[in-house]
Amino acid sequence: MKYFINTMGCKLNENDSEKIAGMLIEMGYEETTSPLDANIVVFNTCCIRENAEEKLFGKLGELKNIKAKNNMIICVGGCMSQEEHVVEKIKQSYNYVDVIFGTHNLHKLPEMIQNRIEENKKQIDVWDIDGIIVEDLPMKRTSEKNALVTIMYGCNNFCSYCIVPYTRGRERSRKPEDILKEVRELASKGYKEIMLLGQNVNSYNGGENYNFSNLLRDIDKIEGIDIVRFMSPHPKDFTDDVIDAIAESKSVCKVIHLPLQSGSSNVLKLMNRKYTKEHYLNLVEKIRAKVPGVSFTTDIIVGFPGETEEDFEDTLDVVRKVDFEQVFMFIYSVRKGTVAERMDGHIPEETKSTRFNRLKELADSMTAESIKKYVGTVQKVLVEGESKTNPDVLTGRTRSNKIVNFVGDKNLIGKEVDIEITSEHVWYLKGNVVID
Ligand code: 5AD
Ligand code: SF4
Repeated sequence: MKYFINTMGCKLNENDSEKIAGMLIEMGYEETTSPLDANIVVFNTCCIRENAEEKLFGKLGELKNIKAKNNMIICVGGCMSQEEHVVEKIKQSYNYVDVIFGTHNLHKLPEMIQNRIEENKKQIDVWDIDGIIVEDLPMKRTSEKNALVTIMYGCNNFCSYCIVPYTRGRERSRKPEDILKEVRELASKGYKEIMLLGQNVNSYNGGENYNFSNLLRDIDKIEGIDIVRFMSPHPKDFTDDVIDAIAESKSVCKVIHLPLQSGSSNVLKLMNRKYTKEHYLNLVEKIRAKVPGVSFTTDIIVGFPGETEEDFEDTLDVVRKVDFEQVFMFIYSVRKGTVAERMDGHIPEETKSTRFNRLKELADSMTAESIKKYVGTVQKVLVEGESKTNPDVLTGRTRSNKIVNFVGDKNLIGKEVDIEITSEHVWYLKGNVVID
């Protein structure tokens, strides 16, 4: 009996899928790489932007005829299941879906599948209250080198464009001892790199007098974990103690993902982001002053309702000033039930896409420029494996997440090695192993 999981969306969903896989393996299923020969197909969905919905419905359509042949059980979970209109649409137009579960009752999936098999009845169970945190779910990790560690669930911020607070509920933090236990176990299994996940990691609340900075400091003490990344902090909650913890720790990565969303204070207000352009730029300067060599990546939404040409120029201005390593760009997409849906001044698609292209051009030219500074430097590179296109070449990533290809012995895989960078190729670097 085989399972196939289709994961959409962010790293939090990826981590949830690792738990789904762990539970299915415990039930006796094996992984397969194609839905065509699977007995169970699970869609772990995302609804942050509109196009994901069409993708899911397309994929469900493709499975309709195969389902009968394999006696297949089709399950839909994740963020989209938390939206009533999606569940209704599945019930009406895709009534061959067997199980619908939400983000708060992931741990109930095995029970729901079992009920589906035994009672031969559709199982639909989506909770709209915040789920409890269930520790120690089995997990089948997708990588043996870098691991995802969710530290908190949900979000309290209600940015006006965002659906997440509605689909993931309010903020709930895992206990520090549970997180530290997981990281220690990862270290003992040979993991070198972890990524701490949450919708808003710097409002992590591990109890009285224990915040995100305490967690970073404690994780930094764990022997064996060389690289700690986190995603995503909110600029309004980036406190001095977190900056100090980053500066003083040896393992916390000095590339910080700091979502900007817009460079215009007017738009930021409409977005309910609770910071201004100046606050963001000052924060970047403050972090730069305390953390030598730090760099930034960001998320930007283009074409939010009410965004004027002047507002958009403010976004370009911040991109130029901060000199991001990488910009993840999104065209604003209306989400049902959010405050922004009801705002005036929705931007025509054409203007949105022209602005998107202008931002992309600027960001691409800055990325191309920023990679040049690596040539001639020595970088610590975590070796991930053989290059997909050439088995004689190894590939890895710098601490700042740049891909580096180099010729080296296979026993370097999984280790962090010093590489002298010899050339840049826009999206990756080439180099040689430094011999002491
Ligand atoms: N439209 C476009 N982009 C969005 N994001 C979140 N909601 C929307 C939306 N409605 C983007 C934000 C966020 C990233 C994960 O997705 O930039 O940081
Ligand atoms: Fe959405 Fe804002 Fe929460 Fe991020 S902080 S998940 S953008 S509401």
